[in-house]
Amino acid sequence: MSAINVQNIRSLFPILHQEVNKHPLVYLDNAATTQKPLAVIDALQTYYKVDNANIHRGAHTLADRSTGMFEDTRKAVQQFIHAAEPEECIFTKGVTESINLVAQTWGRKFLQAGDEIIISYLEHHSNIVPWQMICEEKGAILKVIPVLANGTLDMAAFHQLLSVRTKLVACVWASNALGTINPVEEIIAAAHAHHAVVLLDGAQAGSHLEIDVQELDVDFLTLSGHKLYGPTGVGVLYGKRALLEAMPPYQGGGEMIKEVSFEKTTYNEIPFKFEAGTPNIGDVIAFKHALSFVNSIGKANIIAHENMLLQSFTSGIHQLNQAFGSDQIELYGTAADKVAVQSFLIKGKHPFDVGLMLDARGIAVRTGHHCTQPLMRFFDIEGTVRASFAIYNTVEEVNILLEAIKKIVNK
Ligand code: ALA
Repeated sequence: MSAINVQNIRSLFPILHQEVNKHPLVYLDNAATTQKPLAVIDALQTYYKVDNANIHRGAHTLADRSTGMFEDTRKAVQQFIHAAEPEECIFTKGVTESINLVAQTWGRKFLQAGDEIIISYLEHHSNIVPWQMICEEKGAILKVIPVLANGTLDMAAFHQLLSVRTKLVACVWASNALGTINPVEEIIAAAHAHHAVVLLDGAQAGSHLEIDVQELDVDFLTLSGHKLYGPTGVGVLYGKRALLEAMPPYQGGGEMIKEVSFEKTTYNEIPFKFEAGTPNIGDVIAFKHALSFVNSIGKANIIAHENMLLQSFTSGIHQLNQAFGSDQIELYGTAADKVAVQSFLIKGKHPFDVGLMLDARGIAVRTGHHCTQPLMRFFDIEGTVRASFAIYNTVEEVNILLEAIKKIVNK
């Protein structure tokens, strides 16, 4: 018996109640972006209808109000990830910008020729390319943790890669392509034993896993609002105060300064040092309502419900393969510890065609390389079909997907 009422939750998401290609929408592309509850949509509208003003600058009532609401979201983020203080939470556009910020500030200041950065085969391009760029600039070296056939990291290889040259380990917490949850406690402890800094890409972990940055003792954590039931264009970079204070600014402009003269500019305190220009005020304010939505359900309930959906899907696929008498459907990413993301391929069918056939039945999934081309190369495939589940998905929807897959195999 589930502790949540999914139909009540679904009623909070207007977009789910529509037909696509004459079928009820079955939205299973949540790893790409989650849908938004009414509270988030309403907050965005109310902000522009009632409260819009620039923040941290004006002496008028609307400016005060907007500033207060913007800073309230920062406090909500602090509580959501259990940071020691709100100032350690920087607003960005999303995980991509958060990682680029660290690469271009921490990396530019602290990396030297011959230093090593460790990433993994599971990384999204956004946790590969920024490190390649800074390594090229500084003469640093990128090392990569291999994966095993089930999509888990080769942890023995990781421990071998660590050395006195390791300056940073940048690793995804939960894989967007395979769903694998990495053993981040072990990664952080081992990296710290080598005096290396750790950045976790929390893009997929944000909506699925409990987050306590202090308990983890992680140095940097990145989140994207739109994968967490919030608006696009809002992200978070969490960093430990000492690290953020030691880093140079990212972009220059208004708000990130203390004093500007043509001879010398001094910089503002954190978090403002990293928030040059007018930020995405309305979306940040609305993001607080996404966090409240997640808190109102509770991560434990979310994890239990999504695990149940993932189990139903994977056992449904095993049953289909048994009924076919051979593995017509191959699952990619079979780790024991996973978020509710499942990649698969149907024998003889291109993933893009499968995506179109599913769309014709109202089912939205992602197909392709999922911005993880090195990982796809490891499996010697171009891409996969990926179903990714959220708190508002139902077992009925899993069954609709399974039925559609069965028809596609039989085509
Ligand atoms: N990173 C997003 C995904 O996995 C866009 O689909």
